[in-house]
Amino acid sequence: MTSEPSQPPKATTEKQTPARPLPGDRVSEAERERMIRVDHAGEFGAVRIYAGQRAVLGEHHKNAGLIRHMYEQEEAHLARFNKLITERGVRPTILAPFWNVAGFALGAGTALMGEKAAMACTQAVETVIDEHYQEQRDKLAGSDPELEEVIEEFQAEEVEHKRIAEEHGAEEAPGHKILTGVIKAGCRAAIWLSKRV
Ligand SMILES: [Fe+2]
Ligand SMILES: [Fe+2]
Repeated sequence: MTSEPSQPPKATTEKQTPARPLPGDRVSEAERERMIRVDHAGEFGAVRIYAGQRAVLGEHHKNAGLIRHMYEQEEAHLARFNKLITERGVRPTILAPFWNVAGFALGAGTALMGEKAAMACTQAVETVIDEHYQEQRDKLAGSDPELEEVIEEFQAEEVEHKRIAEEHGAEEAPGHKILTGVIKAGCRAAIWLSKRV
């Protein structure tokens, strides 16, 4: 007998898919609940951001139609996560009242800085959400087809929002680098918190 710890035998039939979990590595139910909780919170925050932008920029602004389009998509995202929360009995984040105010303040605040700052806000938020959804898809990797289908569809629309923002002057916003850096950091902190509480 040897004192060396033995390595668990490697299955010879499994395909090597580096950097992605194998379908057999099922994500725990608790982890999937955390994903739904944070996504629900994020979509709620997104609705509030666009609501804040709409409140400041109004319906007669030249980008009003675009912002309304993004707002309506966020409402549909939120409705879908509301349904998932209910169907799966997931506890929503207790921070909802805070995201209600913070999201609106972020949207309204950047819109007050100008239409390009509003677009920079959208660009920053959607960049973080795109990364966040991709991370979740990589983790789920076939273990929850229903949730993955929802995330994939919404991720494509968040990327569309980011593209709209970039095509409408996001990068010409005054202090673009600092502004988007601060917003991205705020979004990452919000994600971190909403997973936990
Ligand atoms: Fe969304
Ligand atoms: Fe979005």
